[in-house]
Order: sequence, then structure tokens, then C-alpha cells
Amino acid sequence: MKKILVVGSVGQIGSELTMRLREVYGSDNVVAGFRKTQPSEELANSGPLERVDATDVPRLTEVVKKYNIDTIFNLAALLSAVAEEKPQAAWNVGVNGHYNVLEIAREFGCAVFFPSSIGAFGPTTPLDDTPQDTIQRPATMYGVTKVTGELLSDYYFKRFGVDTRGLRYPGIISNVTLPGGGTTDYAVEIFYAAVKGEKFTCPLKAGTFLDMMYMPDALDAALDLMEADPSKLKHRNAFNVSAMSFDPEIIFNTIKKRVPTLEMEYDIDPVRQGIAETWPNNMDDSAAREEWGWDPKFTLEVMTDDMLKVIGEKYAKGLL
Ligand code: SER
Repeated sequence: MKKILVVGSVGQIGSELTMRLREVYGSDNVVAGFRKTQPSEELANSGPLERVDATDVPRLTEVVKKYNIDTIFNLAALLSAVAEEKPQAAWNVGVNGHYNVLEIAREFGCAVFFPSSIGAFGPTTPLDDTPQDTIQRPATMYGVTKVTGELLSDYYFKRFGVDTRGLRYPGIISNVTLPGGGTTDYAVEIFYAAVKGEKFTCPLKAGTFLDMMYMPDALDAALDLMEADPSKLKHRNAFNVSAMSFDPEIIFNTIKKRVPTLEMEYDIDPVRQGIAETWPNNMDDSAAREEWGWDPKFTLEVMTDDMLKVIGEKYAKGLL
């Protein structure tokens, strides 16, 4: 049985991935690492919990040794818009932190999962059907940290044989933990506005297409890649994965079909708009499909039904 450490377990992906890993590998075998934000009761009460900071090597080493960790999911990062406000912190967590994780993985023989992003592309990348292997000259600090993470992960596999694997996630839509400071956050926030009966103010222009994915598919992708037959993996660290692509008008109309009272106005955030324009409209994820069987289950329509149901139930119980 694997012994897993999740670095960044209270974040947008970590909060749900940690619970899913506990279901699959057993609660005692999955350590939830958190830094500042207090973990939810569910996370704290369902298995081991440790304060871990990717930039603190002695502490990271101590936790890896204490639990005989053999697999690290390194989810610690600042999202794209907040990384533009704090580029130094974004580099420190995203690059120095990942370097520390890889070094510890080399020393203790751990496998490593790294989430890269659509942010690893930039203005000179072909933005339609963005190929798996293409130009990557991101114009954001977030993107710089993600490309560096992809390259470092490849290097540690080739040079030291560390079993590194990773995905280029699109915007992830979930009904548990809100994202914070990302360019794709609007696609989550619009659901909350719909359920609460509030007018939604969209920070991106109509016609701004981005890849997106529902959280259950994002979790499956991470688990399936980490379980994939290594002999079939040609790319390893930066698989394009997508489930849908839409712009603000499309998601607005899809929700409005179900919530006719929803209204939307635009108030463009120049930072987020500037970032979104340099990211793919839709990625080609055929390498992931061919090499480890990527096959997302949630379309925009099915995701919308599920989001409205789950968030609607929480709102009805007074939990939002
Ligand atoms: N969701 C991320 C962001 O918008 C993209 O990986 O920053």
C-alpha cells in the first residue's frame, strides 16, 4: 500500500484529492500536509495531519521519514492572478518548493505528482488545439513556475530515476473549496451567484474561451496517471488534459436554462483578461488519452446539473 503525503491539502484541489486518496489507499496512509489555513474538520478527523511547508526542507524531511512516505502530491502553489501580485512568493513556493520536494523524493525514493496548468502556455503558443509538445513562453509568473516545474520534474526522472508524473490542468470547477486568485475562478463563482439569486459580474470578456474540467474528472486524472503503467508513458510530467472549453456567454446560457433569473454583467479585470488571452482556447489532450487512457466523464451540461444541485442543497441548509 502506498504511503502518501499531500503538500497543500487544504487548497482547491488538495481538499478533495486528499479525501479521495484516503478512500482509495486507506485513511492512515494519506498524510494531509497544511501550512497556514486550518484544515476542515472532515480533513482533520479522517487521517493524519501535519504542518508542512514546501519551502521548509527540515520539516518536509521529518514528515517523510516519520510516515515512510513513498509518494508526494505537491499541490502547493499560488494561482495566476495572485501570483502577479506576489511574484516572489509565487516563485518561492512554486519553484523552490518543488525543487525541495524533488530533492527529498530523490533521497528517499518517492514518486512525485506535480500539477502543471494551461498557464504553462503563452502568447506565442498555438491557442487552438494546443499540441502536447509546442512553444511554451508564458508571460506570467504562474506560467514561469509551471514550466519550470515541468522541466525540473522531467530532469529528476531522466537524471535520477525519480518517478515523476504530472498534468496540465485546465480551470477546475468544484463545489467544495473555492479557488483563490485564479483566472478561471469566474467559472466557479457564477454558480454561487446563480444559486444565491445574485447578479454575476464577469471579469473576462465574452468570447474568451478557456479549457475547463469538473473536479471529479480532475481527481480521476491524478489517480489514474499515478497508477498508469510507466512503460506506456512517453511524456510523464505535463500531460494536456481537458474536458470542455467555453467562454462566459456559453456557461451563462447553460446555467440560465436551469436558473432563468440569473443575470450577468461584465466588468473586465485587465489582469485576468490579459492572462486569459495568452492561454489556450482548447488543448489537444490526445497524448493523455493514448498513453494512460484519459477519458473525462463530465460534459458542461452534466457538470452544470450537478453543481447547481450540490450548491443549491448547501444554500438551502444555510451553509453558504
Ligand atoms: N485555475 C488556474 C488559474 O486560473 C489555472 O491553472 O490560475
